Amino acid sequence: MKLRSGSKLGVLTSGGDAPGMNAAVRAVLRVGLELGFEVLAVEDGFSGLLEGRVKRIDLRALDEAARRGGTLLGTARSKIFATPEGQKKAREVIAANAFAALIVIGGNGSLTGAHALLGAETPQGTLRVAGLPASIDNDLACTSMSIGVDTAMNTVVEACDRIFDTAAAHKRTFLVEVMGRDCGYLAMTAGVAAGADVVLVPEVGKGEGEIVEQVLAAMDRAYGKGSDKHRVLVIKSEGVKVDITRIKELVEVRASKLYPGVDTRITVLGHVVRGGAPTAFDRLLGARLANAAVRALADGETDFMAGWVGPGIVAKACAYDPYVVLSPLAEVLAETANLMSGESMLAQWRKRIYQEVEPILRR
Ligand code: F6P
Repeated sequence: MKLRSGSKLGVLTSGGDAPGMNAAVRAVLRVGLELGFEVLAVEDGFSGLLEGRVKRIDLRALDEAARRGGTLLGTARSKIFATPEGQKKAREVIAANAFAALIVIGGNGSLTGAHALLGAETPQGTLRVAGLPASIDNDLACTSMSIGVDTAMNTVVEACDRIFDTAAAHKRTFLVEVMGRDCGYLAMTAGVAAGADVVLVPEVGKGEGEIVEQVLAAMDRAYGKGSDKHRVLVIKSEGVKVDITRIKELVEVRASKLYPGVDTRITVLGHVVRGGAPTAFDRLLGARLANAAVRALADGETDFMAGWVGPGIVAKACAYDPYVVLSPLAEVLAETANLMSGESMLAQWRKRIYQEVEPILRR
């Protein structure tokens, strides 16, 4: 059944912020208004929902925010929401605000939360829910890209370009750690784009001994006889559980004898990778996924995530955008679990490519 004009549409951002979230919220508001809905923001994700913090959104403020990172709505990782009491409270707030539909913008935990709200009863009938994938980690299934990944990748590449300059000036080896939780996608794609010598990702699963050998081999190629290379760049995904300072220590013990005078330095990029103005791609991705989601909700769809077509996505594009697929949330969550445990086709494809890239970077 189509959503009635004047229906209330709630929107929230949840989990780790991702550049492009604001652009997605802006599109929810603009498309929602165009279709005749009242769009309301929930502050600070599911935490704000539990506290009934619902407000009108200022379009002009969102227009400004769409050019910036973070999220104007605020975000949080709520532990209480996952409990039975939290769920009950959330359903009460949804009913009290008479939401006809709720759009959740976030990662795996956030979409799990959206799916859990299914069946919530409101004065408008049963709540409709939709998710938009947003996480710099790119660890969600049923979308080739999540909102924020492209910006984060560009940020890492820019940081590496800067590090290259100083590394080469001093003839140094740099170990650069990037975010990504348990997913090596960001480290690997940024590493290839930046021209790193070694990229360490959790999917390939190397132990500390193998990692040290790999770094030393890269140093040998750079600083050994017949080479005029003056720097080595190693990108390590935070998902690789060997501590970066431990890698440095072990490398230095051997390198100090082999290449005296060549220093090894560490840069942990941390939250620098998550902030910053979204790229044009992330702004458009957020806007197009939001546009499709609002239109699908209006047409009566529920319990889906709007994802971006591309490698690994076999579903048919939706009626609203040839680059957007709508997948049931249950399927998204199950496939994401398979991706993270290494069982899905996409996980195996990524692992194989990562292994193939390693000797190519070595040249
Ligand atoms: O999921 C996004 C992410 O930035 C991960 O890459 C990282 O491991 C985590 O969030 C950090 O979370 P927090 O900001 O809560 O420390």
